[in-house]
Amino acid sequence: MTDIGSLVTRQTNDLDAFWLPFTPNRAFKRAPRLITSAKGMHYFTPDGRAVLDGLAGLWCSNAGHNPDSIVAAIQRQAAELDYAAAFHFAHPKSFELASRIAAVAPADLNRVFFCNSGSEAVDTALKIALAYHNVRGEGDRTRLIGRERGYHGVGFGGISVGGIVNNRKFFGTLLTGVDHLAATYSREQQAFTKGEPQWGGHLADELERIVALHGASTIAAVIVEPMAGSTGVLPAPQGYLQRLRAICDRHGILLIFDEVITGFGRLGHAFAAERYGVTPDLLCFAKGVTSGAVPMGGVIARESVYDAFMHGPEHVIELFHGYTYSAHPLACAAGLAALDLYRDEGLFERANRLEPLYADAAMKLKGLPGVLDVRTVGIAAGVDLAPRPGSAGERGYEAMERAFHDEDLVIRISGDTLAIAPPLIVSEAEIGEIFDKVARVIRAVA
Ligand SMILES: Cc1ncc(COP(=O)(O)O)c(C=O)c1O
Repeated sequence: MTDIGSLVTRQTNDLDAFWLPFTPNRAFKRAPRLITSAKGMHYFTPDGRAVLDGLAGLWCSNAGHNPDSIVAAIQRQAAELDYAAAFHFAHPKSFELASRIAAVAPADLNRVFFCNSGSEAVDTALKIALAYHNVRGEGDRTRLIGRERGYHGVGFGGISVGGIVNNRKFFGTLLTGVDHLAATYSREQQAFTKGEPQWGGHLADELERIVALHGASTIAAVIVEPMAGSTGVLPAPQGYLQRLRAICDRHGILLIFDEVITGFGRLGHAFAAERYGVTPDLLCFAKGVTSGAVPMGGVIARESVYDAFMHGPEHVIELFHGYTYSAHPLACAAGLAALDLYRDEGLFERANRLEPLYADAAMKLKGLPGVLDVRTVGIAAGVDLAPRPGSAGERGYEAMERAFHDEDLVIRISGDTLAIAPPLIVSEAEIGEIFDKVARVIRAVA
């Protein structure tokens, strides 16, 4: 492994002050992975290595890094209007971006609430759901239903409905009145599936059991990711989302899709809702909305949800919620430029077209030592490696380290699961290159 520690230390003087998020800090600071610039499909390290981005930043840089048009839009905006409050005031680009997002969202998902991250988007959606029932006189609907292995960011709402034990167990009692559907993954039934697994649609019927247990009149909303990304690329089983929608309709429960990862092209459509022909009542987005260039998130609500709030005296705020940086001008400028780029370069269609080739390339990992499963959907792949006895997560961590230092590749890990989801500008040759590198890494950590 290349030792770039001394070089990095010289350049940054001191690594102590920064407490890195979701990172083993001591291990990182012993052998840092530093990135100083980027262009297109590549990052560049302080010592000038080009590193292939196999994860679109963190599932966000869908148009690749530093595209000229997004860079220019941010620069122009910074010079023109650095900030304007979105409480009681607004700037034109916030309306323009909301309209453009509504235009690519399905059906009557036409009202956009802006925030700054996926976590905020999730907490915003949960709060809108609770308030929606309240303003309609159904304030007893307070229960929120999430799913095991779900990731909905790190706010208290998000970790409460989320289903990742380490994200929950250190943080007290969380929100009360939360229940969880079972995870949709079964290795026995689904291993090495391309796209949506045939098995598992029936697991949506668990919602009926939860409704029977608590009573529909106590349940506000169900939140799921159409494809669980952070727990290792778990696509929705065939029919699953449709069944959830039908059960929610039957019982007056709002359906929330967390499309923080799946939004803006990852599954070959603007939103996964379109891929599955299922319209949620609320849709969370973030990441790809600006192609990762400026933090932004948001919630798209159906018109009927928004309309439910539009009553009472006109000088009174309808929803007591918002953020100082909701619809920040830099984020709006980046978002508009990103949407232009997605459209002009046809990147969602490109993802759709490349999906079979991507899946084939990923499936070549089948049979390598320690590979227990490979799953793909859209331009995303999850690879489960066998944990080392008594040391879960170690093999995965080493794979990520080796990928960076030895193969000049960024991938993501969740325990011993690798996630590979490059920017949607990835070429066919680069797809091959990425999975060749991953194959060498898997052999190296066997
Ligand atoms: C499905 C989903 N929801 C929410 C989040 C949280 O987003 P953020 O890290 O921007 O708060 C993520 C982040 O990966 C995500 O994948």
